[in-house]
Amino acid sequence: MDGGCCWVDQLGNLHGRVEGMNASAEALLIGSHLDTVVDAGIFDGSLGIISALSALKVLNDNGTMGKLRRPIEVIAFSDEEGVRFHSTFLGSAALAGVLPVTALQISDKSGVTVQDALKENSLEITEENLLQLKYDPGSVWGYIEVHIEQGPVLEWLGFPLGVVKGIAGQTRLKVTVRGSQGHAGTVPMSMRQDPMAAAAELIVLLESVCKNPKDFLSYDGHCNDISLESLSSSLVCTVGEISTWPSASNVIPGQVTFTVDLRAIDDMGREAVIYELSNQMYKICERRSVSCIIDRKHDANAVVCDSELSSQLKSAAYSALRKMAGDIQDETPTLMSGAGHDAMAMSHLTKVGMLFVRCRGGVSHSPAENVLDEDVWAAGLAILAFLETQL
Ligand code: GLV
Ligand code: MN
Ligand code: MN
Repeated sequence: MDGGCCWVDQLGNLHGRVEGMNASAEALLIGSHLDTVVDAGIFDGSLGIISALSALKVLNDNGTMGKLRRPIEVIAFSDEEGVRFHSTFLGSAALAGVLPVTALQISDKSGVTVQDALKENSLEITEENLLQLKYDPGSVWGYIEVHIEQGPVLEWLGFPLGVVKGIAGQTRLKVTVRGSQGHAGTVPMSMRQDPMAAAAELIVLLESVCKNPKDFLSYDGHCNDISLESLSSSLVCTVGEISTWPSASNVIPGQVTFTVDLRAIDDMGREAVIYELSNQMYKICERRSVSCIIDRKHDANAVVCDSELSSQLKSAAYSALRKMAGDIQDETPTLMSGAGHDAMAMSHLTKVGMLFVRCRGGVSHSPAENVLDEDVWAAGLAILAFLETQL
C-alpha cells in the first residue's frame, strides 16, 4: 500500500503499518492470529486480518489513507493457539511485554524449544531482543480485533455481528499420572497401580466439577456466592490431549499424561475450582497408589473490553449492516467470549475492543467452520466504518 511498510519481527509476527497524517500520534493496532489448531477451519484468526486489510485497501483505493489522524498497524500474530508449546498468545504477549524470557526455552513434545523453532525459520530471538519487541504503551491508542464467534449465539439471535463485552480467563494444566508398568495378562486386577484407570477417573471428576461447580465448592473463603453464580454459567473444561507410555495393547501403562483447559469469566472462581480439583485429584491418585503431578502451563485472567471502543465498534457494526440491508431494527448484540484471543494479551498494553462474526452452527476448531460471504463482507465494512472515524 502507498506509504506503508511491512515487516516480520523476531517472534514471527507480521506487521503492516501506515502512518497517516501524524506518524508520532498514538497508533491504532488491529490484529488477530495467523496460526491455527490441528485439523482447523479457515476463519479462526485469519478473518480478523483479512477484514483489517480489506478495509485499509478501500481507504488506499479511494485516496483517503493518507488522511488518517493516527498510524494504523495491522498485525498478524504468531502462535496464538498454543498447540505446540501449550502456552498461548506467544506473539501478542511479546508485543504487550508480558511474555517472560523463560518462554523462549519452553519445548514441544520432541524437545524443540520456541527459540529453536524460530531459528529454523530464520528468526533469531534472544532474551534481549524479546524485551525490545515490547511496544511503548505511550505510542499506542488502542487495539481492536475481529474474530469469528466460535459459538452459536449470533446465529441463534439472527445477527451477523456482535460486540464482545469481555473474554473468559483460562488455565492450562498438564497432568502426569505414574503407576506401575506391567504385563496385561499376568498382573491381577487387585495388584495393579494403573495410571490409565486413574486418569479416566480424574477426567470424569473434572467433568463433574465443571458441570456442577456448586456441588464441589464451598463458601469457605475460596469462593463467594458471586463467583459461584458466574461459575455455574461460564465454567468449561476440556481434556483435549492424552498420551500413554509405552502405549501398547498388552502393557499396563507406566505413565499417562493429559492436558486440561479450564475457563471461566470469574478469575477467583477459576482459582477456587483449580484448588478444589487438584485436592480431589491427589486424593484419587493416593487411593489408587499412583503418583500425580499437576503442572500449571498457562494462565490468562479474564478481560473486560473497553466501553468506549465497544460503543465505537457497535456504531461501526450498525453502519455496516445498514449499508448492506437498509434499515436495521435491532441493536447489535453484545456477548462474552469463552474463546481466548490476542486481545487478552494486548489488554496488558492498551485498551481493547472486539467484534464477533456469526459462524455456522457455532462450529470452530474444525474443518467444518464456516462463515457466510455476506458476514465476511459485513465484518470488513464494520472495520472500514471504524477506520473512517479516524479520518
Ligand atoms: C483459542 O482459540 C482458544 O480459545 O483456545
Ligand atoms: Mn482458535
Ligand atoms: Mn482464534
